[in-house]
Amino acid sequence: HLYNFRQIGPDTKVFGVISKPVSHSKSPKLYNEVFNSVSFNGVYAHLLVDDIAKFFQTYSCMDFAGFSVGIPHKEAAVKCCHEVDPVAKSIGAINCIIRRPTDGKLYGFNTDYVGAISAIEEGLKGSPNAGSVTGSPLAGRLFVVIGAGGASKALAYGAKQKGARILIANRTYDRARELADTVGGDAVSLADLCNIPPEDGMILANTTSIGMQPNVGDTPLSKHALKYYSLVFDAIYTPKMTRLLREAEECGVTIVSGLEMFIGQAYEQFEKFTGLPAPKELFRKVMENHS
Ligand code: ATR
Repeated sequence: HLYNFRQIGPDTKVFGVISKPVSHSKSPKLYNEVFNSVSFNGVYAHLLVDDIAKFFQTYSCMDFAGFSVGIPHKEAAVKCCHEVDPVAKSIGAINCIIRRPTDGKLYGFNTDYVGAISAIEEGLKGSPNAGSVTGSPLAGRLFVVIGAGGASKALAYGAKQKGARILIANRTYDRARELADTVGGDAVSLADLCNIPPEDGMILANTTSIGMQPNVGDTPLSKHALKYYSLVFDAIYTPKMTRLLREAEECGVTIVSGLEMFIGQAYEQFEKFTGLPAPKELFRKVMENHS
């Protein structure tokens, strides 16, 4: 994703992904290629940020048009915005910020939730035990979320809206309990997740960085517990096939990669960044070429 600096001029819109770590992020590659393909005058950069509040104090003078927000800043980013979309407010986390050019005000959104939930619903439609034909295939199922950070909140909130029952499993039990109380669900420590009584149609969603590059040998739940699930989703997309997904597939379980969530949330951000309809097939093609 080399920027073509000869093409950058005063009208070029500059975007970036605020994250730590950030070098694994495929957003710059994706947006720069798509901007180029649709002749949108914009560039998109990696922004390695330790403290997001400090970032906005220090860099408020810079002329960014918008940002994506990644681990671990999705919750802290809410406080950095002047206005936050009501859905993102109830999730308590954002992954997209638009800066209004007239007065520099920052508007926060959450596009993770839409991308992830539609990818899981799509995955369930093809799986045995697909659920009701009219409502969401998530309705009535036990939806287990591993993690209690910003991405976890978005997923738990989205699944709850679709009628699923929520169980939060986290390394730090107190954070699991707090999130479960917020969205309306139960909590368990991650160490105890393998001991929950199995039931039909359970869904497992990992929202932590366990198994992300370079720690590809790690997994949040041991293989013997995976066979009880109808579908396993991993929010990680680098690598596309995590150890969790590989082992779930070996157990005959339907899997959904974080790449689907990534593509889904990217369509939405692209439309907010550019005001143009997202070329969905192009997003998929670019991501498949780079994964
Ligand atoms: P984000 O907002 O992007 O979701 P976050 O707030 O840093 O990121 O949340 C990361 C989540 O991954 C947390 O639930 C964290 O567990 P703790 O609450 O116990 O810190 C979880 N997590 C990260 N690394 C982990 C690891 N090695 N083992 C278990 N859980 C981990």
